[in-house]
Amino acid sequence: MTLSKSPKSSPHLKVLIRRTAIQKRVRQVARQITKDFKGQRVHLVGVLKGACIFLSDLAREINLETSLDFIAVSSYGARKESSGQVRVNKDLDSSIAGLNVILVEDILDTGLTVSYLRRILLQRRPKTLKVAALLDKPSRRIIKEIQADYAGFSIPDKFVVGYGLDFAEKYRNLKDVCVLCDPEITATPSEPASKSSRSKL
Ligand code: PRP
Repeated sequence: MTLSKSPKSSPHLKVLIRRTAIQKRVRQVARQITKDFKGQRVHLVGVLKGACIFLSDLAREINLETSLDFIAVSSYGARKESSGQVRVNKDLDSSIAGLNVILVEDILDTGLTVSYLRRILLQRRPKTLKVAALLDKPSRRIIKEIQADYAGFSIPDKFVVGYGLDFAEKYRNLKDVCVLCDPEITATPSEPASKSSRSKL
């Protein structure tokens, strides 16, 4: 995967995955989900906030009865590396018992978030539980057994923003996934609690 020239918005951004490639891959993932769950309903659970853009595009490409819900989590304490202790800040609105649940993430990094969410969601007795992640950083994985059932792109260990992913709440609305090569990113801010190290490195 090669980097191309920066979007006009910032000299620190280099496009890693263009919007057209994202659209194409999201359609492919949606087609696979449509095939795998033929004739059934799927229930997409988005992990706020990063997954909201991917989820909204994915949902519109799935050709099945589809319902949506969202969950928000954070980790305890302020640190660069995730503690793995995750807490739910906003729970699901409704029961997932008996449903084909697809947990939708923007990025799989250490795997701690998905590991925790899988554990608590399985206790609620869904019919099936799958994971869809637009981006995957396998080199960062701490929980080795965590994999996406539906993965968009495997990426190197670069700090990426756009298409839902942020740095300090900025850049989520970029249409491309970009590498942020900004000196501010290497600074050590007084960090708010986050459920992962992804946005704070
Ligand atoms: C990101 C991302 C995933 C998580 C992945 O969330 O959205 O939920 O980190 O990291 P992990 O595999 O190491 O657990 P972030 O904390 O940046 O919050 P956000 O979604 O609100 O941006």
